[in-house]
Amino acid sequence: MRCATVKGASAVTLLEIQGLSVTIPSALGPVQAVRSIDLCIARGEIHGLIGESGCGKTMTGMALLGLTPAYAQVAARVIEFDGVDISNSAADLRGRRIALISQDPAAALNPVLTIGRQMDDVLRTHSSNSKAHRAATAVALLAATGLADAPQLMKRYPHQLSGGMQQRVVIAQALATGADFLIADEPTTALDVTVGAQVLALLRKLVVDRGLTVLMITHDMDVVAAVCDRATVLYAGLSVETGPASAILTHPRHPYAAALLAALPDAAPRGQRLAAIGGQIPPSTETISGCAFSPRCPAVMALCHTMSPPARGAGNHRWLCHLAQCAP
Ligand SMILES: Nc1ncnc2c1ncn2[C@@H]1O[C@H](COP(=O)(O)OP(=O)(O)OP(=O)(O)O)[C@@H](O)[C@H]1O
Ligand code: SF4
Ligand SMILES: [Mg+2]
Repeated sequence: MRCATVKGASAVTLLEIQGLSVTIPSALGPVQAVRSIDLCIARGEIHGLIGESGCGKTMTGMALLGLTPAYAQVAARVIEFDGVDISNSAADLRGRRIALISQDPAAALNPVLTIGRQMDDVLRTHSSNSKAHRAATAVALLAATGLADAPQLMKRYPHQLSGGMQQRVVIAQALATGADFLIADEPTTALDVTVGAQVLALLRKLVVDRGLTVLMITHDMDVVAAVCDRATVLYAGLSVETGPASAILTHPRHPYAAALLAALPDAAPRGQRLAAIGGQIPPSTETISGCAFSPRCPAVMALCHTMSPPARGAGNHRWLCHLAQCAP
């Protein structure tokens, strides 16, 4: 399987998803947390997954980790990791090939165990190396995340570390599992801007140095601009545009992506979070007919209310819309 890349050439696909849906029973009817998401992520890229709150970003990551609620129904036409169908085995890859970096490092770490003990717990699970070998590996991994004086740090507790240091420890733990695909769910949300930028730079460095691949879940255009090679825009549980991050930021093709950018205070994506645009995403219990964005779309046409939009574009930039040229 091959994926289009930013350069237009093809690269080896690490993750291929077509038509992913996650449905959760509720008293109000089935919650369609994810309606239909396609993702194609090439090995070695940072792929942004961006959209408003509630559009299904985290649930998509949970489906890949096999961490959706037990009562949720997960389905997909295709869900392959490294060429292997993982529709029934996503959880087997968790902590082996796929690891999660969440937005709250303090919650991810155990407050009553030292950093060294927590690193060792991960390493012990994933190797049969001696204690001394594991300790050396832990120090090396902590140092690889840019943490100074790693041997001393091993003796400290999470509360003795800043948020940025805690997030680096969480990243070191992810590396300790041996995973080569990281799902980073809003990894800088709890950090101030400067520290967040440092963590993003670290992830970029690790991608280059260690050949990792990252799914970067975010609602922050600055994150997409700063580190993402490609991005997929989600709306109401649907992937509505996918392409090179630079193209989406400068020439979005789907009216929703265009509206997100236009709604920013100075219409400049860099440094800005997604601003609200008029209207609301449809409730996830609602059945959508036609285009999900039609109630809010400035370019809406009569057929948009009744007919699902076709796939447009080619190669590495695709979108769903009835208009051939959605955005200027
Ligand atoms: N355990 C659950 N039970 C029922 N509905 C859920 C559950 N988890 C998520 N949802 C619903 O699924 C939809 C997608 O949620 P998800 O957490 O994936 O959104 P998100 O894009 O990550 O949003 P945010 O930016 O706020 O983190 C939302 O409508 C949410 O309310
Ligand atoms: S299909 Fe119609 S409503 Fe949907 S984004 Fe395109 S123009 Fe707007
Ligand atoms: Mg989320």
